[in-house]
Amino acid sequence: MKFTVVTGNLTSRKEPLILGIAEGKGLPPWAGKWSAPVRKAVQDLLRSKRFQGKLNETFLLPLGSQWLILIGVGKKEELTLDRVRQAAGTASRRAVAAGFESVARGLLPVKQAPADQVAQAVVEGSVLGTYRYTEWKTLSADEKKELKSVTLVAPTAGDAAAAKQGVRRGLILAEAVCWARDLVNRPSNRLTPTMMAQEAKAAARKFGFRCQVLDPKAQRRLGMNALLGVARGSREPSQFMVMEYKGPGAGGKKPLVFLGKGITFDSGGISIKPAERMEQMKYDMSGGAAVLGAMRAVAGLKLPVHVVGLVPATENLPGGSAQKPGDVVRALGGKTIEVINTDAEGRLVLADALGYAKRYKPAAMVDLATLTGACVVALGQHCMGLMTNNGGWGEQVKQAATRSGERAWKLPLWPEYTEAVKSDVADVKNVGDGKAGTITAAAFLKEFAGDTPWVHLDIAGVAWADADKGYLRKGGTGVGVRLLVELAKVWKGKP
Ligand code: BES
Ligand code: ZN
Ligand code: ZN
Repeated sequence: MKFTVVTGNLTSRKEPLILGIAEGKGLPPWAGKWSAPVRKAVQDLLRSKRFQGKLNETFLLPLGSQWLILIGVGKKEELTLDRVRQAAGTASRRAVAAGFESVARGLLPVKQAPADQVAQAVVEGSVLGTYRYTEWKTLSADEKKELKSVTLVAPTAGDAAAAKQGVRRGLILAEAVCWARDLVNRPSNRLTPTMMAQEAKAAARKFGFRCQVLDPKAQRRLGMNALLGVARGSREPSQFMVMEYKGPGAGGKKPLVFLGKGITFDSGGISIKPAERMEQMKYDMSGGAAVLGAMRAVAGLKLPVHVVGLVPATENLPGGSAQKPGDVVRALGGKTIEVINTDAEGRLVLADALGYAKRYKPAAMVDLATLTGACVVALGQHCMGLMTNNGGWGEQVKQAATRSGERAWKLPLWPEYTEAVKSDVADVKNVGDGKAGTITAAAFLKEFAGDTPWVHLDIAGVAWADADKGYLRKGGTGVGVRLLVELAKVWKGKP
């Protein structure tokens, strides 16, 4: 998708136009620039209530030989950058459905948001909302139609200059998210841990960050027995991705460390999952995909930060050598873990990753993981769960989440919860007591995070969308990339 920024007036354009309308406000401000018949057509439509301007509502209105794509943006007082992003996604998808190859649109005025941020949100929404996962599908001529060009019409030369910066950043981010989505949507036979590591290496070369991959031999040497334990049930070798980016001037600084769960398929292992919807468990590497996408975007944007990305990747399968309930493994830092349930594998691979992170003496850490079904029950698909050992750092991550439109909600992590992961035979066990499953999973991870300011994000609910909505498409969402990049953007070297 190509974006062009021009200065001028939408009324002089010939291609289909995307026009935003707020709810319950009558004729929108842009209508003043149009002729009386156009104003009347919009007025009649609003009076008829066939279109009310509700968020993500669309209407295709013919205007002589031209088309107007009306897009509802909800109540004017409630307009945020994320709603602009959502509306752009819905409108662009409507344009594709109508067979339009190019459209023009304006930049919605959002309170306190400069034109560059609005343009960035529009670009992200348009690209993400029309994303498709087509790697294995034969497409008909109709299905191959794409929205190829979007012209952004800015009111002044100053806005246009700002918008161009926003377009550049929006494209870097959106393309990183689309890549993360591709990795999530890719079937597990097409994205093994080894293939995922190859993707990381290729991106590192292309976007300018370091990537080293530790194979099982190296993992054994380091004592990553929790990761190796999970990998025992599979013939695919586990891979541990170590990525590092040092931006301009950030060389000597302690890094910000991102960690992502990289289970390319979670069958549950010996504690096997039911067959229903098991095919969806290819998305159990969504946390890892978010870290890969964030490394790519942070490097692409050349942010002046020191960031390390760690992704432990393996399949979780019930092969003949698989680990069994009751087995005890020693994680990288020396702590022993009783594996009560082999399906609680995410916290095992992250235990070794958190242990490995110590060698960087991180200033702060954030992990992302599709860790618990309990999080989907607790929070649904509208926000991720956030747990932390450091209130201040937790608040910063939560605010970055809000700004990026990838919302997070804090759950408590009081010491009492740690009781539930104490084991009779080892230092900790990998399940809780059946209550507060999302929190006890975090309580387990906390044992491996040590004193470093650390935030755990459970993305089980938000990493997969069940239907198209706004800028989300059915399938992998690529959630986490924008949040991590926002964190890196405001990072001052310490939390
Ligand atoms: N990958 C799953 C979590 C999950 C489940 C994500 C459903 C999305 C939808 C994770 O590895 C898992 O299986 N967790 C168990 C933990 C339990 C055994 C303590 C769960 O949530 O049931
Ligand atoms: Zn599992
Ligand atoms: Zn899992």
